[in-house]
Amino acid sequence: MSMWWFVTTLVITVFISNSPVYAYDNNPLQDICVAVNDSKAAVFVNGKICKNPKFATANDFFASGLNVSGIAAPGAGGAAKFVDVNNMPGLNTLGISIGRVDLEPQRFVPFHTHPRATELITVLEGILYAGFLVPDPANFFKSRLFSKILYPGDVFVFPIGLIHFQYNVGNKKAIYLTAFNSQNPGFIFIPNSIFGSNPPIPDDVLTQGFQLIIALWLFGQSLFQIKSITMRMWWFITTLVITAFTCNSPSYAYDNNPLQDICVAVNDSKAAVFVNGKICKDPKLATANDFFASGFNVSGNAVPGFGFATKTADLNNMPGLNTLGLFFGRIDLEPQRLAPLHTHPRATELITILEGTIYAGFLVPNPANFFKSRLFSKVLNPGDVFVIPKGLIHFQYNVGNRKATYFAIFNSQNPGFVIIPNSIFASNPPISDDVLAKGFMLNKTEIAVLRKKFS
Ligand SMILES: *[C@@H]1O[C@H](CO)[C@@H](O)[C@H](O)[C@H]1NC(C)=O
Ligand SMILES: *[C@@H]1O[C@H](CO)[C@@H](O)[C@H](O)[C@H]1NC(C)=O
Ligand SMILES: *[C@@H]1O[C@H](CO)[C@@H](O)[C@H](O)[C@H]1NC(C)=O
Ligand SMILES: *[C@@H]1O[C@H](CO)[C@@H](O)[C@H](O)[C@H]1NC(C)=O
Ligand SMILES: *[C@@H]1O[C@H](CO)[C@@H](O)[C@H](O)[C@H]1NC(C)=O
Repeated sequence: MSMWWFVTTLVITVFISNSPVYAYDNNPLQDICVAVNDSKAAVFVNGKICKNPKFATANDFFASGLNVSGIAAPGAGGAAKFVDVNNMPGLNTLGISIGRVDLEPQRFVPFHTHPRATELITVLEGILYAGFLVPDPANFFKSRLFSKILYPGDVFVFPIGLIHFQYNVGNKKAIYLTAFNSQNPGFIFIPNSIFGSNPPIPDDVLTQGFQLIIALWLFGQSLFQIKSITMRMWWFITTLVITAFTCNSPSYAYDNNPLQDICVAVNDSKAAVFVNGKICKDPKLATANDFFASGFNVSGNAVPGFGFATKTADLNNMPGLNTLGLFFGRIDLEPQRLAPLHTHPRATELITILEGTIYAGFLVPNPANFFKSRLFSKVLNPGDVFVIPKGLIHFQYNVGNRKATYFAIFNSQNPGFVIIPNSIFASNPPISDDVLAKGFMLNKTEIAVLRKKFS
């Protein structure tokens, strides 16, 4: 009973729409991977080398400090802080990471791409003008700008690999969280890559190449302006790219994701469904609003009596998320209330606390003894980040004496929600008493009590 809120607010949107998740090719594992015959010179391509699981602790899945700004380089105009596999080793192979950017008024995060990740940003403070460029297949020399002015609570998504920017158009500092569906999204700064390459691209090539293509992206700014922008962006390179590139940590590889909860084969194409996300709108008719959602500065609708409110940015209210592999939610938990034991079969979940105190944990099966599992748990305060690996049973519990608010980011557009007690004790049709009694070593009276509680 007490979890029905969860089913109604989350599962209905996810399951009834029956929207399948995305499929990617396996991700490339790093920026380049030149074949080598010498195994001693070889690198691991599937994430970093794994620690012996026996020595893993909850702290490997935990990071703190997103409640404060990163350190700005002098004159930089901004600061960035990232939680990635270097400072949160548990992220390795999980396909997700998060950061915080503080941008001074009128400062610009220049044109860049993330070759291996879709990025989803959420504004916490200030006003941001953000946009991305969608190539026009009918004319490769033009692209379409999808841009929005963003206020606190607004969410905007940049599809994998597309050129984008963020610009603080307000008169006070802007703060936003930035989540990626890769542990190593990669950063390519367009002007820096082009004008600061080593060895340099010949001037002739730049002059011609710039006029033909990049001028379109940069709204016709002069080469001089570009070079000066390039200089001003050095802070960004030092704060962001060093962490991303120097470590040269390769990204993850997954098998292709399953595309929905079940997929029963059918011979009748008329009865078939599209399995690679929802059917796509004609790209000509897409607008920036398809990639935008707002209202995350306030709580979702609480279900009366249940101590919980959720709000999600998903395919239904943010159709641009289709096939991009991200799902976003805000959860407000009343004191002493619990987000019950559940799993997401298709997504790793990364949570960031905005307010309050949460006790969160997940269960890691023990391969040496399948009848035991290990609990990895942490008490989390504002600015703390915790990651819950794909498919593992977990919970969040507000142990404070005031409301707790957190953002949850999932690296699937359809993570799936399996609420353990409800799935088992309130299935339709019901699991027989005999099976439940044996499965949980309970008698039928006890089973009846549990069925009543969870249905
Ligand atoms: C690797 O070794 C094979 C067989 O010895 C050889 O044919 C090939 O050219 C080598 N590749 C590289 C990249 O050195
Ligand atoms: C940020 O969080 C840390 C750890 O919870 C805490 O010690 C610190 O006071 C917080 N800072 C701010 C500015 O809220
Ligand atoms: C939330 O954001 C909306 C849109 O920017 C704004 O109208 C509203 O006042 C904000 N609410 C709060 C509580 O900050
Ligand atoms: C689909 O059609 C093939 C060939 O007609 C048949 O062998 C197969 O059993 C059919 N499969 C299903 C699930 O109906
Ligand atoms: C079932 O178990 C409960 C508690 O262990 C016990 O009080 C009750 O008598 C049992 N009922 C039956 C029918 O065995």
